[in-house]
Amino acid sequence: MRTRFTEMFGVEHPIAQGGMQWVGTAELVSAVANAGALGFLTALTQPTPEALVREIARTRDMTDKPFGVNLTILPSINPPPYDEYRRAIIESGIKAVETAGYKPQEHVDAFKAHGIKVIHKCTAVRHALAAERMGVDAVSIDGFECAGHPGEDDIPGLILIPAAADKVRIPMLASGGFADGRGLVAALALGAEGINMGTRFCATKEAPIHDNIKQAIVDNDERATELLFRSYRNTARVAKNGIALEAVRIEREGNPFEAISHLVKGARGREGLIKGDPEHGIWTAGMVQGLIHDIPSVADLIATIVGDAERLIAGRLAGFAATIDRRDNQLA
Ligand SMILES: Cc1cc2nc3c(=O)[nH]c(=O)nc-3n(C[C@H](O)[C@H](O)[C@H](O)COP(=O)(O)O)c2cc1C
Repeated sequence: MRTRFTEMFGVEHPIAQGGMQWVGTAELVSAVANAGALGFLTALTQPTPEALVREIARTRDMTDKPFGVNLTILPSINPPPYDEYRRAIIESGIKAVETAGYKPQEHVDAFKAHGIKVIHKCTAVRHALAAERMGVDAVSIDGFECAGHPGEDDIPGLILIPAAADKVRIPMLASGGFADGRGLVAALALGAEGINMGTRFCATKEAPIHDNIKQAIVDNDERATELLFRSYRNTARVAKNGIALEAVRIEREGNPFEAISHLVKGARGREGLIKGDPEHGIWTAGMVQGLIHDIPSVADLIATIVGDAERLIAGRLAGFAATIDRRDNQLA
């Protein structure tokens, strides 16, 4: 399946694996690259820019196919040294970057000046248009279903993707809620050039998280998420568990972030992913858990998605077109 996305990024399939804190490491990203899709290492999962340089080298040891790096810019009291991470990406000779978050302009300018293709992930049509004006090469548009940060507008993909497709001229990936061939075909029908997935890639053999968490994703259904930080206008969709429910309860009483920070801190979430305890801390997952029923290798996952999508287009959907032809002939 060739689209403007596959052409632009030099990959075989119109599928990307978005940046994922604690999950987007060399193991997963190289598996995605080897399967012919576009994976992004998560820069800030590495404790220092030097560690990111080593992780990029480690990924190159595992694949000779294209891969990229995600740089997520979130508001923070002690911001990480973004400029140094950016320099590490540029000096490592990376050719594709996924930016996400607030005010990426200076980063986009620097990446573009070094010939790097930038795909900006955003959650609103106006943000996609702003990114296009900023000079990015492509956008990913994340619907309300998505894991992580869905923004504050609460527009699901079924509306957001075609609304963006009507206005955005550069290639666009649909993101949030995708897990299978049906989703890929739907995204293409809605005007996207491919899909970006997060949660689905967490439940694969190569994802560097404990098997218990992968199994929890399989066991969970589409209702098993919670929205944190709504009242701070920094909404995050996470897997529903006791800690998430407790944090939401305290937040809804009108308390400031400090009242829940001990529950939601990243280090605690990471410990849970490594130890395999889904109740230990907060971990990110989307509604699409309801469509995930197995833990395949990344290669099998991508082959299944693409194979199912092609069969769906050539079979069931082509059948509908044939019905239209027959009807037209009868009318004629
Ligand atoms: C465990 C996890 C961690 C994530 N961390 C980040 C991140 O650090 N930066 C980012 O831009 N997106 C992050 N995301 C969002 C994904 O890149 C992607 O946009 C999202 O998962 C798409 O929704 P889906 O999970 O329904 O496929 C994360 C998602 C997951 C599941």
